Amino acid sequence: MAILVTGGTGYIGSHTVVELHQQGLEVIIVDNLSNSKTVVLDKIETISGKRPIFIEADIRDSQALDDIFSEYNIDAVIHFAGLKAVGESVAQPLRYYDNNVVGSLRLLESMAKAKVHNIIFSSSATVYGSPERLPIDEDCALRTTNPYGTNKLQIEQMMGDLCTSDQNWSVVALRYFNPVGAHSSGLIGEDPSGIPNNLMPFITQVASGLREQLSVFGNDYDTPDGSGIRDYIHVVDLAIGHVKALAMFKQSIGFNAINLGTGNGYSVLEMVESFERVNQLKIPYQISPRRPGDIASCYAQPDKAYAVMGWQAEKGLDQMMKDAWHWQSKNPKGYQ
Ligand code: NAD
Ligand code: UD1
Repeated sequence: MAILVTGGTGYIGSHTVVELHQQGLEVIIVDNLSNSKTVVLDKIETISGKRPIFIEADIRDSQALDDIFSEYNIDAVIHFAGLKAVGESVAQPLRYYDNNVVGSLRLLESMAKAKVHNIIFSSSATVYGSPERLPIDEDCALRTTNPYGTNKLQIEQMMGDLCTSDQNWSVVALRYFNPVGAHSSGLIGEDPSGIPNNLMPFITQVASGLREQLSVFGNDYDTPDGSGIRDYIHVVDLAIGHVKALAMFKQSIGFNAINLGTGNGYSVLEMVESFERVNQLKIPYQISPRRPGDIASCYAQPDKAYAVMGWQAEKGLDQMMKDAWHWQSKNPKGYQ
């Protein structure tokens, strides 16, 4: 089987390519390198003993996509390519609609032309907005609060409409909760450009001395210690979820949305405490005002993933903390 992985040199994509290789699958990556570097390909090769085929192209370039589909015998697509910064999406909505929604549209058009009808899409728990109930199951109301979230929802809807129009299509939209950690080799991991927006890379950069202290955004939420609660999931568990989802394509299955989370929620202060304990390091922090747009709690009801594809998260919080620090301490400046 050959799998086309869009955005395959990125954080989640690179970990997924390693897992695909471990299953003996052929991988073709298409990425425009807007948020990744080709050195990732060397690291993937070191870990898995195999180098993926790499094509530098933008998914909005229909000709480039058509050429890929005609050159390679592709069975399924895993679609990671996209811009992902919430704040940036509020400031530059048209750029986000163009890259994420138009990019996905062009990809689906090329797939339709090539008669490749199987796709796994990187969706996000952000489609639940401020969640209707906790834990969040897939039937919770979908209501987004920023252009990035709306992009994810519109892409899911476009894929759903396609499945309604033609029963050959099979779509698995994986709604990720909060991916953290890195491959246990310490060779691949998250490499944010500039000041990290997300909690985990901020903690590891404080630990390595790149940042002075962590700002804990709010200690007055309606949670046991007042800080925000999220469902953190090890990126390798997430990657394995994509391999499991591929097995669903043995028959046409229409549109399926599936949560990928652990079902456990941890607060910001619990994350800090856990990082300190596991890695024997101190993380200086200050309590700061709430970050606009943040919610108190978000964690998954992950049972559907187990029921339909036999997947559940295996790695706990200690492993996430250990692997995140292993990557950061081996690569203090990321891939540079
Ligand atoms: P990432 O930025 O590390 O990887 C995305 C990759 O896509 C990058 O390598 C980038 O160069 C590439 N890319 C972007 N636009 C492209 C385009 N137009 N054409 C070709 N390549 C393009 O991000 P990630 O954390 O690995 O996330 C992967 C996917 O998962 C994204 O769609 C993201 O929205 C989604 N997601 C991520 C998280 C998270 O916390 N990391 C959570 C939920 C969903
Ligand atoms: C954010 C995005 C979400 C996206 C997800 C991907 C926002 C509003 N939401 O989710 O759409 O799918 O990333 O990973 O950006 N925190 C601090 N200090 C920090 C950074 C974060 O206290 O320096 C807190 C936050 O307030 C939150 C928790 O840590 O309570 C997790 O934050 P983050 O890692 O940014 O993830 P989300 O906000 O859940």
